[in-house]
Amino acid sequence: MQDYHEFMSEILIDEPTLQQRVKELGAKINHDYAGEELLLICILRGALPFLVDLMRHVTVPNAIDCMAISSYGAGARSFTGNVRVNLDLQTNIEGRHVLLVEDIVDSGHTIAHVLEMLNTRRPKSLKVCALLDKASRREVVVPIDYRGFAIDNKFVFGYGLDIDEYYRNLPFIAVVDLSKYQQPN
Ligand code: IMP
Ligand code: MG
Repeated sequence: MQDYHEFMSEILIDEPTLQQRVKELGAKINHDYAGEELLLICILRGALPFLVDLMRHVTVPNAIDCMAISSYGAGARSFTGNVRVNLDLQTNIEGRHVLLVEDIVDSGHTIAHVLEMLNTRRPKSLKVCALLDKASRREVVVPIDYRGFAIDNKFVFGYGLDIDEYYRNLPFIAVVDLSKYQQPN
């Protein structure tokens, strides 16, 4: 695995800024769901650090579950719009307030597909919390009820976001210079 310093062009969102925003999102969620119970759904694997940090600011009664989604064959840089469920929820969401927690909304196909699928299970409410919003890349309209940051059309990594499955552990979000990145064997 290549040292990220070799291909990182800039740190886009540093750790204190991320943590501050996550705290603010938690406060907003607590306000909006006051008196209710909430099911937080982590869209694996990218939303993992975000959900873990976010849930520690959620004070309304809550439970968590996970689901894993992928696009057929291609990676995110050549996304086709075909979405597959690799791991479904363990929880029956009927009659429950559900909040989808996602790392980034890019084309919008992933979230659009998940919303369509989960709505058929008749949750009491179904909303989206996305850390990052790359609005200029949107191909389908999707609602984002809680948005961390709007970002430009750059490929980013860290804080859950991967390049070829690596670098998810970094506590900040950085931009990759793809001309300097070498794919692992
Ligand atoms: P969608 O295009 O909105 O369906 O997003 C598909 C998925 O692509 C996201 O959930 C991310 O996992 C991934 N993705 C999109 N943009 C980036 C990026 O800049 N870095 C890392 N992963 C990304
Ligand atoms: Mg993802």
